[in-house]
Parts: sequence; C-alpha cells; structure tokens
Amino acid sequence: MKNIAIFASGTGSNATKLIKHAQTLSHINPVCLITDNADAGIIEIANKLSFPIFIIEKGTKTKSVHEAEILKTLRQNHIEWIFLAGYMRILSANFLNEFYDQELKQCKVINIHPSMLPKHRGLNAYEHAFDSNEKESGISIHFVDAGMDTGKIIKQASFSKEAKDTIITFKARGLALEHILYPQVLSLLNKAIATNNYKDFA
Ligand code: GAR
Repeated sequence: MKNIAIFASGTGSNATKLIKHAQTLSHINPVCLITDNADAGIIEIANKLSFPIFIIEKGTKTKSVHEAEILKTLRQNHIEWIFLAGYMRILSANFLNEFYDQELKQCKVINIHPSMLPKHRGLNAYEHAFDSNEKESGISIHFVDAGMDTGKIIKQASFSKEAKDTIITFKARGLALEHILYPQVLSLLNKAIATNNYKDFA
C-alpha cells in the first residue's frame, strides 16, 4: 500500500475523481489533499467528503520556505507519490529530488496537462489549443521534472475540435476526457505496485 497526496489549486474536479477512484484501489491509499489556495473550490468538496485537506498558502513566503512547509506535511503523512491535479505552481528541483526514485529514474510526482504535449506547455493550454488551427487536441499525463510540462509521458488521449465549438464546449470535452484518463493512470500505478512491475507505467 502506497500513500498518495493530491495537489490542487482550484475547482478540484480531477482531484475529486482521483480521491474517489483511489478509495476503490487495493494498493493505493489516498491520504490527503494539499492546496495553495484558501479560496479553492476543492476545500468545500474535501470537507463534504471528510477527506483531509491542508491549506498551505505561499503568501509572502519564499518558494523554498513554502515548499519546506509542504514537505513537512508530506513527511508527517508518509506520502510516497504525489498527483498534481490543477496545481498551478512549478515545483522546484529541490522539492522534486525528495521524491526521486532510483529504480524508476523518475520523481514520484505526476501531473495532468490539458494539451497533447509537447504542444501548448504552460498556462492556458486549452485556450492556446482552441485558438490554434489544429483540428484536434489532447490530454497528457506525465512525470514531473524540473522543466515546464517536459517530463516523461505516461498516457495521452486526443479529442476533436468541432467547427461549432466554443472555448466552453471545447474545454468541457477535454475535461471529461481528463476525468477518464487520470483515474486510469491511478489504476496503472495500482497494478504496478501490486505486481512490483512498473514497465507499463514508467
Ligand atoms: C485541468 O484542466 C488541468 O488539466 C489543468 O487545470 C485544470 C484543473 O481543473 N492543469 C493545468 O493546466 C496544469 N498546467 P480541476 O481543478 O477541475 O481539476
């Protein structure tokens, strides 16, 4: 059984899907949420689910002090894996190193990004994909490294851009796909842990 933490900064629709799915898996223990935003919608959801959430805002702290606070909470909760679900901060190399796994040769930190990486890295990926002349876009789930959405890809899926789409309908189609894909990756990790075989995963 591996303890995971989920990081979210906003609405938390992906975080909610992850918590609910993780609670059905035998080798993954969803322990807590971390948010950097005291106004995040996910706080109310976590409270309704009676799921532990730690609100750790950056405020005027330096990045390293903020991250040290988060790390302390993660250590106290024996967290081994982190799933970023709309967490809108870049984690430093120092932070990531704490989760580096020699065998996997990856940090045990995973992110979901709403584009077909390497296209549209960074913020507002849906908007950039929508404004492009591409006929389809996608969702990527990847290991986190010190770059901006540059880590090794675990799973991707594409979805179409329809002529009648607005940014709202386009995003909704993408988000629906995120909600399918991210739990699938959790299941892949569950299987990898159960069999101690990470070849399909990492
Ligand atoms: C999701 O679309 C996620 O892919 C994106 O933020 C949204 C969060 O929604 N993440 C990024 O853009 C990371 N660079 P949610 O709070 O409803 O899960």
